[in-house]
Amino acid sequence: MSRLILALDVYEREKALEIAECTAEYLWAVKVNWPLIIGSGLGIITELKQVTGLPIIADLKLADIPNTNKLIASRVFEAGADYIIAHGFVGRDSVKAVMELGKTIMVVEMSHPGAKEFIQPVTDKLIEMANELRPFGVIAPATRPERVAYIRERLKPEIKILTPGVGAQGGDARAVLKAGADYIIVGRSIYASENPRESAKRLYEEIEEV
Ligand code: XMP
Repeated sequence: MSRLILALDVYEREKALEIAECTAEYLWAVKVNWPLIIGSGLGIITELKQVTGLPIIADLKLADIPNTNKLIASRVFEAGADYIIAHGFVGRDSVKAVMELGKTIMVVEMSHPGAKEFIQPVTDKLIEMANELRPFGVIAPATRPERVAYIRERLKPEIKILTPGVGAQGGDARAVLKAGADYIIVGRSIYASENPRESAKRLYEEIEEV
């Protein structure tokens, strides 16, 4: 099974469906984020599921009070999302509100340079929270394989690690999988390339043996 997740950060419905369809063979799942939902509406989740037959991850990074998280998550799961990404730093009640409705992925550390300011200092506490709540998985930075290894050592083995930051942000796919990630999340290196299908195929083959 593939360990590649496509981050489909385009606005346009037709473009999104076209890229998803031609890369699906090499993917485990498709991740949608605000750009696509803002550009094409929530119905794009349902359409992507139909076109690819793959799990859909809604990367909303929910970070609100439990009731608002619940109001948002219920509509997004209804639209066909299989997983929703939620922030942990807002507290366990907010994460639980999403988990009660469906499979949840919690952010424990982020891939951009600014993550060192506020998120990384509390990663240990977020790992503890994940071990207690047992979401499907956590998000960790592909840009810092040593942090992925650190998180893997402390996280319950059944909790998956999904890592954005490969390619455009500088992360190396093989290095991060060797460090303990279960899946890599790749956006621009696939959807903004000249040939998204070829780019997805190349990445798929690069990580096949890791
Ligand atoms: P690129 O184009 O950089 O896209 O390959 C990466 C995708 O992943 C999202 N992203 C993150 N999501 N924690 C997250 O939950 C992170 O640290 C993180 N870094 C990147 C990004 O929004 C895009 O969809």
